[in-house]
Amino acid sequence: MRIGIIGTGYVGLVTAVGLAELEHHVIGTDVDTEKIEKASRGVSHIYEPGLEELLRKNLAKKNLSFTTDLDQTIKASDVLFVCVNTPQKEDGSADMCYVEGVSHRIAENLDDYKLIVEKSTVPVRTSLWIKRTIDRYKRKDVAFDVASNPEFLREGSAVQDFLNPDRIIIGVESEKAKKMMLRMYEKFQERCLVTNIDSAELIKHASNSFLAMKISFINLMADLCEKTDADIELVAKGMGLDPRIGSLFLRAGLGYGGSCFPKDVRALIKIGEDLGVNLDLLKEVDEINTMRIQAFVGKVRKALWNLKEKKIAVLGLSFKPLTDDIRNAPSIRIIKELARDGAFLNLYDPKAVAKMRGVVPEEPPKIVYVDTPYDAAAQAHALLVVTEWEEFSQLDLKKLKGLMANPVIVDGRNAFDPEKMRALGFEYYSIGRK
Ligand code: NAD
Ligand code: UGA
Repeated sequence: MRIGIIGTGYVGLVTAVGLAELEHHVIGTDVDTEKIEKASRGVSHIYEPGLEELLRKNLAKKNLSFTTDLDQTIKASDVLFVCVNTPQKEDGSADMCYVEGVSHRIAENLDDYKLIVEKSTVPVRTSLWIKRTIDRYKRKDVAFDVASNPEFLREGSAVQDFLNPDRIIIGVESEKAKKMMLRMYEKFQERCLVTNIDSAELIKHASNSFLAMKISFINLMADLCEKTDADIELVAKGMGLDPRIGSLFLRAGLGYGGSCFPKDVRALIKIGEDLGVNLDLLKEVDEINTMRIQAFVGKVRKALWNLKEKKIAVLGLSFKPLTDDIRNAPSIRIIKELARDGAFLNLYDPKAVAKMRGVVPEEPPKIVYVDTPYDAAAQAHALLVVTEWEEFSQLDLKKLKGLMANPVIVDGRNAFDPEKMRALGFEYYSIGRK
């Protein structure tokens, strides 16, 4: 099958490489010439474990190529995956302009039957708009189908998630589209769930919002723990032992960030409003999440009193470990709050510094990027753990303490053991634990 991938961002690049790895012929296209130029040379524009190796392997096998020529990609493909961004608009809804733009271009280039697959996260009933747009602008009277195949990969384990999926949701409304989709995912036949299109679209927003709700719930419980002798790690462990609840996504901390949970929860609230269904439950989920940053910065203030000209080390800038993605990263709001109070910040991250510099420019002595966690800790009055990169658990804590002006740690991810930290002489604060 000849597959065209429209939009080679996080999802599109992984989808292109993943489908090529499944032995399909794939062309990736994007309006961003730099991304395409890099991908053509076997260089990934994102840090994602294992991606670059598979990109190179499939380029060499010649079943994967990249171009900026969207019209040519449309004409040369049997199946088109729409992987463009669907960012949040001011009113919370998903901005569907990119999807509409691509639908229009598909219509103009439609010369034979094609299956158009929504891979981007889109509001339920989007397929109707895609069909209407293509019907409105197509120049030849040829048939086409629209299908929904939402993506569930997580950044940091995206390749693994794509090649070993829990489930593949296939929303279709014709036998032909169903057959093509099942053939494409032949290797994972038993993990495919075929539904109608509206259900497939809603499964995606519902899944992300449910996971976000789990995170906000455990964060609320962490607040209760801080008012009692309960320990959030034990509470989460005890809850998670019930298979009906499950142990995953019960890590209390700074709340969820990233390019999807925050925007998808808000988009679903707006979908509910538009369809006359009250989704205030999700407004609370969003509000609880937003408050996590204030609560964390409050802990820093409580530990240090005034922040003016206090030196603070910030460990971890990406929204989660194993990615360089900083979209909606909690670190950004934390840095801005602390900088507003006049703190001097040493920022460290193993992968996200280049992207962060674009959002938070270096401004010595107020904001300085450093090369190691130890450089960050030098003369610091406090050290904050904002993203739980594995390497932080391997730090030489005695050395770290020796470098700091005050051995104060405020850990937003419960990355360390409180007893051990206190035994080492740290003043240690974390989330939902004594
Ligand atoms: P992204 O911004 O990284 O990538 C989108 C790409 O589309 C960009 O490279 C952009 O240049 C390109 N694009 C925009 N208009 C185009 C056009 N007309 N022609 C060709 N290319 C065009 O976004 P992303 O993180 O990959 O997310 C894409 C979609 O997938 C979103 O709907 C998102 O919610 C969803 N999603 C993302 C993830 C994730 O982990 N990032 C996971 C699951 C689903
Ligand atoms: C999430 C979903 O897990 C994917 O299934 C989905 O495809 C993707 O969104 C998407 O639609 O974009 P991702 O954002 O890459 O994936 O990362 P997660 O591992 O889900 O983490 C999201 C945020 O929640 C991170 O900021 C993380 O720190 C936070 N989190 C996660 C917690 O605070 N506690 C937890 O227990 C788990």
